[in-house]
Amino acid sequence: MQRYASKAVLVTGAAGGLGSAMCRRFASEGAHVAAMDIDAARLETTCTQLRELGFDVRPFELDVTDAEAFERQVARVVDEFGQIDVAVNNAGMGGDMTPLAEYPVAMWNRVMTVNVSSVFHGMRAQIPHMLKQGHGAIVNIASIMGCVAMPSIAPYVASKHAVVGLTKGAALDYGRAGLRINAVGPSFVRTGFTAASLPDDSTWDSLADRHALTGTATPDDIAAAVAYLGSDDARFVTGSLYLVDGGYTAT
Ligand SMILES: NC(=O)c1ccc[n+]([C@@H]2O[C@H](COP(=O)([O-])OP(=O)(O)OC[C@H]3O[C@@H](n4cnc5c(N)ncnc54)[C@H](O)[C@@H]3O)[C@@H](O)[C@H]2O)c1
Repeated sequence: MQRYASKAVLVTGAAGGLGSAMCRRFASEGAHVAAMDIDAARLETTCTQLRELGFDVRPFELDVTDAEAFERQVARVVDEFGQIDVAVNNAGMGGDMTPLAEYPVAMWNRVMTVNVSSVFHGMRAQIPHMLKQGHGAIVNIASIMGCVAMPSIAPYVASKHAVVGLTKGAALDYGRAGLRINAVGPSFVRTGFTAASLPDDSTWDSLADRHALTGTATPDDIAAAVAYLGSDDARFVTGSLYLVDGGYTAT
């Protein structure tokens, strides 16, 4: 499939487990990819590896919590690529695992800034360019925690519910202008993100048992859904939370 031939795609959190899989998926379908991450060294490695496969994936260092820097880097993408057909606001963090009353205020602020304000800043920077083009698709990476909860991670749960709310609100604001804005809700995927909080295989086995399907999701499962939502195959899909959760939330 070459759904993204000569299209420009922006992905944040591009050096991470899910983001790098998304960059690879978009590029393998023909996209020119602007890969953004705060971790310049890992971003460079990711882009180099993908360029060695013959893909056009270029590094843009960015802290997604910095609204002005986000605007500058989005403008740079438009300068270099001529347009932004799809933007994926994927960068995020987990925070502590602690019951709410013991949760540190500073970590609450950090989780909300990195997971929620970043999506606000991202869409605020991306939408004006998409409006000028008259088209564009945004995919915000939420989580199953955007519609259900787990103990000891209430701030993370709140942040991902907020991402879903931002997605729905923005979808209503810009649907008539030709923009589609959706969220993806992955369940548990083994990446750097989950390595610290879910380190051992037995935890993953018991998590797998809570899905209707066998096992847990891979980064490529999530990238496939994101690539679908960004493409014309999803031309009548907006304001949705698209779950890639193996049936986890169906119970
Ligand atoms: N892995 C999972 O099980 C899972 C499940 C549901 C949702 N998610 C969501 O998917 C997204 C990606 O997670 P992942 O599993 O790939 O994690 P990851 O830790 O592998 O990657 C996250 C990336 O985001 C980058 N990042 C963090 N803060 C940033 C900032 N301020 N500015 C720019 N970049 C920043 C990191 O450097 C890292 O490369 C997150 O939003 C996460 O909440 C992950």
